[in-house]
Amino acid sequence: MRQKLVAGNWKMNGSMQANQQLLENLKQGVTHIQAEIAVCPPFPYLLQVKELLKNTAIRYGAQNVSHESDGAFTGEVSAAMLVDLACTYVLVGHSERRTLYAETDEGVAEKFVVAQRAGLIPILCVGESLTERESGDTEKVVERQLNAVLTVAGVGAFSKSVIAYEPVWAIGTGKTASAEQAQAVHTFIRQHLAKQPQGTAVAQTVQILYGGSVKANNATELFAMPDIDGGLIGGASLKADDFLAICQAAH
Ligand code: G3H
Repeated sequence: MRQKLVAGNWKMNGSMQANQQLLENLKQGVTHIQAEIAVCPPFPYLLQVKELLKNTAIRYGAQNVSHESDGAFTGEVSAAMLVDLACTYVLVGHSERRTLYAETDEGVAEKFVVAQRAGLIPILCVGESLTERESGDTEKVVERQLNAVLTVAGVGAFSKSVIAYEPVWAIGTGKTASAEQAQAVHTFIRQHLAKQPQGTAVAQTVQILYGGSVKANNATELFAMPDIDGGLIGGASLKADDFLAICQAAH
């Protein structure tokens, strides 16, 4: 039985004041929630989030990490720095990073390895664009993205990671994948991992989240699917009531 996880990706949103309000409201609201909960604020707010979430069950992580360990890499943030700030998670390969910042499958895999080696739990984001879905290439794309990590880290690495299936066409568009569409891809991901030598157990235990316009009114149906273990939530993670309602649906 896999534990459900709901992670909020704040993207490039927030302020000291807004974060404080949001986290105070979340802290009050999470007492009766069964799912694991995490938030991923922008880098500058990690320390604030660390302080505000002290002695709570809410975990936090970053939205990106450098594949380099240290040195002259202006603007980059290392995995060791995230560990220093007691992050649990880090997103790698979010579609906005892949499309807007030209991150490649190989580069994402490198970040996955570096993050895991430092002790972080990478949340590997995979998913197809609308064109790819319409050409029937969804599985091919997701398989390619998974294979990049499998090649460098092996299937065992997925036992200490999370996968987030996020169809690009559903992100921030209000168009969510139907529960059946999402379930089909989640099943495919488990089958693909299970096909790897010694992959059977990992395929069953790895948490696979769905992301893409998850709201309070569709979360219950999505999270009821047997292979959907929670969600990676963008827009709806910025309002405590909306986020808590989604967390409530994950049990
Ligand atoms: O990381 C989160 C996803 O990009 C989903 O964003 O819930 O705003 O569609 P969204």
